[in-house]
Amino acid sequence: MNNTKTRIILAPLQGFTDVTFRNVYADHFSGIDEAMAPFISTMGQKRLKPSRIKDVDPEKNQKLFITPQLLGNMPEDFIFLADCLYDMGYKKINWNLGCPHSKIAKKKRGSGLLMYPDLIDDFLGRVLPKISNTLSVKIRLGRKSKKEIEQLLPVLDHYPLDEIILHPRTGEQMYTGVSDHDAFAAAMENSRHCFTYNGDITSLAAFNTVSTRFPGIHRFMIGRGILSNPFLAEQIKGIIIKKNKLLRLKAFHDALFENYQAIFSGPGHLISRMKGFWNYLGLCFSNSEKQIKNILKAKTAETYQDRVNEFFNTDPEFAG
Ligand SMILES: Cc1cc2nc3c(=O)[nH]c(=O)nc-3n(C[C@H](O)[C@H](O)[C@H](O)COP(=O)(O)O)c2cc1C
Repeated sequence: MNNTKTRIILAPLQGFTDVTFRNVYADHFSGIDEAMAPFISTMGQKRLKPSRIKDVDPEKNQKLFITPQLLGNMPEDFIFLADCLYDMGYKKINWNLGCPHSKIAKKKRGSGLLMYPDLIDDFLGRVLPKISNTLSVKIRLGRKSKKEIEQLLPVLDHYPLDEIILHPRTGEQMYTGVSDHDAFAAAMENSRHCFTYNGDITSLAAFNTVSTRFPGIHRFMIGRGILSNPFLAEQIKGIIIKKNKLLRLKAFHDALFENYQAIFSGPGHLISRMKGFWNYLGLCFSNSEKQIKNILKAKTAETYQDRVNEFFNTDPEFAG
């Protein structure tokens, strides 16, 4: 398959695809063209704490092109943060209209805003004339119903947007059910904007299904699929995988561990972060449930490392 036009974008996954992950990933794998950084919440105060934007510090983000993402519903706060990001060099930013978590959605943020196209209209009308960055939106089909997008798309048509990244589920679905390809097709037909496809690309076969169904789409955002199979972007791009996959995975794992060890203050944070990765990575190993469970039960960094080393030494079956 000719993949020259295909662009793969690493999805924002809060708690996973931070700058440390992005840099280590870029050192060990290819195929990803760019990444969207996990959301930064807009806040009322006019003094920006450096900790809130350290993930998008341009000096630390030289390995992978990134688009910062903002989560919020107050135009003034959004404009303030967008301006800061512009001054840092970010000409493109993204507005998160997809976050499904009820705590956030209840406050009419993330997917919670999708039921209120008038509020989105008002927000964009106030924000877009005042920011120098260009804007894309990352959306779902709706909060409660897949039909909500029918009211939203005409609103979005009024504004200049870089693109619409659509994960075709509702917010209330969270991650259950399947991505609705028919609804994605209908959205494309009813909008003047360019679309990026996002949702459930967890294998080369899943990618082929989506790219065959949508030959006009060249931008694919992938999140969980990369966490469970870090080779996926290389497979999609047709990059020949030469070295032993297990050795590459182990080297990637060890580099992640070392880099997180250097920044987390205690072993608790370190191993819980690493276990988070195993919840995904583990999905691509066959016949290894027991050993992966053991890794997930490790209570100290030493036990964790011993169990991971032991696991790789048994030559486990990686199905990715
Ligand atoms: C743990 C986790 C954290 C996420 N964090 C964000 C986020 O910060 N911003 C965002 O727009 N989406 C976030 N998402 C949604 C993903 O970017 C993506 O839209 C979703 O996982 C579907 O794509 P996938 O099937 O390729 O994973 C998150 C998803 C997960 C599972």
